[in-house]
Amino acid sequence: MTEALEALVAAAAAARENAYAPYSGYAVGAALRSRDGRVFTGANVENASYPAGICAERAALAAAVAAGARQFDAIALYAAGKATPCGICRQALAEFGDMEVVCAGPDAALRSFRLSDLLPEAFSL
Ligand code: THU
Repeated sequence: MTEALEALVAAAAAARENAYAPYSGYAVGAALRSRDGRVFTGANVENASYPAGICAERAALAAAVAAGARQFDAIALYAAGKATPCGICRQALAEFGDMEVVCAGPDAALRSFRLSDLLPEAFSL
């Protein structure tokens, strides 16, 4: 893995420290890198009304888009087990094009995918 991707994984791991996951107990961190080199982080934020919760990846995406970023080359996810982005997050990220998806965590060897392989034929209008 390149140094830049290692830094992205480290940013995702740090963001995970701020996850708010009192219901599932499953903390997730994400770090999304825009093509101009900025890094936006997110953590999952759960809610007593379960569907109101948001995943780490979409939290990072919302922060990035709000800051004006529209093009991304990689996202890192940090979580326990062998986590990959959920289906909704795959679709949300695919809105902004293809990118590398690095899945990391304390339990499993790091894995890297193309978003287009994780979500072939993403929906678009
Ligand atoms: N979660 C994420 O943040 N990202 C994923 O890709 C999968 C799941 C969160 C949602 C919920 O807060 C917790 O993990 C358990 O599903």
